[in-house]
This record gives sequence, C-alpha cells and structure tokens, in this order.
Amino acid sequence: MLGAPIDMGASQRGTLMGPAALRTAGLATLLESLDFEVVDHGDLWVAGIPDPSDEPPQNANHYREIQRWTRLLSHRAHDVAKSGAVPIFLGGDHTLSMGSVNAMARHWQERGRKLFVLWLDAHADYNTPATTITANMHGMSAAFLCGEPGLDGLLGKEPRASIDPGQLELFGTRSIDKLEKELMRTRRIRVADMRQIDEFGVAVLIRRLIERVKESDGVLHVSFDVDFLDPSVAPGVGTTVPGGATYREAHLIMELLHDSGLVRSVDIVELNPFLDERGRTARTAVELIGSLFGQQIADRPTPSNAIS
Ligand code: ARG
Ligand code: MN
Ligand code: MN
Ligand code: MN
Repeated sequence: MLGAPIDMGASQRGTLMGPAALRTAGLATLLESLDFEVVDHGDLWVAGIPDPSDEPPQNANHYREIQRWTRLLSHRAHDVAKSGAVPIFLGGDHTLSMGSVNAMARHWQERGRKLFVLWLDAHADYNTPATTITANMHGMSAAFLCGEPGLDGLLGKEPRASIDPGQLELFGTRSIDKLEKELMRTRRIRVADMRQIDEFGVAVLIRRLIERVKESDGVLHVSFDVDFLDPSVAPGVGTTVPGGATYREAHLIMELLHDSGLVRSVDIVELNPFLDERGRTARTAVELIGSLFGQQIADRPTPSNAIS
C-alpha cells in the first residue's frame, strides 16, 4: 500500500483524507485475512520538493503541486513494482494515476509486457488543457496516460511510458464533456458506458476485456474511481453522477478480475471522507478490494492463475 494524499486535482477539497479512511476501514487487515503479506509504505508527501523550472500550462489548475506529486509517485511506484509487490495506490484524487499508471506502464514495458488499464469511473478523464471546461487536472489523467499533449512537462526526468489508446478501457462511463468526446472519438477510445452495461451486463463486458488482455499476454491495472459506483452506495465523493454501478455489479467485476489472475496493480481514488456518511463509502471500497484479492462468498476452487 502506498498513500498519496493529494486533492489539488479536484474542485472539492478532502480526498487527501482518503488514504487514512481506507486504512481505518481495515484494508490491511482484510488483505492479511486473505493470506497476503501487506507492506504499508505510508503516505508520500511533496512539501519541500523544489519547483521545476518549466512554464505551467494554461487551464491546468494547481499544475505545480500535481507536477511534484506525479514525479514523486511515478518514481516511488516504479520502485515498489520492482520489488515484485502488487501495489495498491491509495488516493487522493484521480491525478494520482498520472504517476502510478505511468510507473506501471514503464515497469511492464521493461519486462516486454503490455499494460492494459481498466478505468472504472463515471467520467472519461480524457480532457486536456485544450478541451477542459473546469481546468481540474483529475479530468485529464487518462488522456495524459495515452500520450495526449498539453502537460508535457509534468514528469520532467521521470521517463514517460504512455499506453496505446487500445490498452485503455473506460468502464461505467456516464459523463463526458463535449470536446472531450470529440477527442475520444478521434483516438478510438474504448468505452463500456452505462448503456452497454445495461444491455450486456458487466460479466460479458469484463470477460471480453480479460480475453483481450490474455490475447496479447498483457497484464492489467485497475484504476478504481469511487464515483464509478452509484451515489446511493458511495456518497463519499465530490463528483457523484446518478445511474452508476450497483454494489453487486461492482463486486462481480472484482471477482471476475480476481479469477483472471491478470491484475498487477490498483488505484483507489476520489474517496472524499469529508463527504462520506459514517465511513460507508470507505468500507464499501475496501470490501470491493477484498473481492479483487480473492474474498468469496462460497468457497470455489481458486483458479491456478489468480494473484497470490
Ligand atoms: N469531465 C469533468 C472535468 O473535466 C469531470 C472530471 C471528473 N473527474 C474525476 N476524476 N472525478 O472536470
Ligand atoms: Mn526509481
Ligand atoms: Mn476519475
Ligand atoms: Mn470520476
């Protein structure tokens, strides 16, 4: 576990309390009960890191802070991955992924394997400084990771390891801005939106993704934005959008992902304990991570390729 208490990428303050809430909700204990050896690397902090000398772009709020976070996270995440661990990145807002996913993409590139990214999120996060309405950088992380221009100084000397748009799968999407949608169309971004979920069900769509990853001998990173869930199950987020994934759909997704044995890293982002109701959202997020790591209702034979 590596915490990144960052909340400058969102318009609502408070996600910096996310890592603490996830710990309080018992994440480590749950993983230990599933026989994992848990190492908590604590929270990163960026105060005291000097400002880089590039010119901050227009329409990217708090660029400087996020730049410091992205560089530090990318560096530390890469080191944690090298140790052979399955990193769980505790956010923090979704700008966290600009560092964590960049590092994981680089890590797997070095090992000759492709990283696929499952973006569980109400939003596409495919804005750039040129398309954004809000200038909030958490709405730009998926685009940045696919190599979109506009935030090119973010990583500095940290190597940038962009993924091909074909390696990204947005899932649970129900809010996309106009220019963002146009950009996504030209890049052929894969979107399993709520309409597709309603028509086909999550199992069909997740299995299709799993097949695609297996076909190219890839591995999977799960970037779990808590607003993927319906606000009735997960009120503790600043950017709720109605019509989200149900509690049961979300658990099924995590169970199928577990059984695939493909998941090598996870982000849990956008949890805002300041907006939560008596820890409900934090607890739900932790339970879902439990399913992702093998928690089951009835005992079934553990697939031989599952993460251990
Ligand atoms: N599309 C909107 C924006 O660019 C919302 C992004 C919300 N992102 C998130 N990570 N919750 O500001
Ligand atoms: Mn390093
Ligand atoms: Mn997001
Ligand atoms: Mn979101």
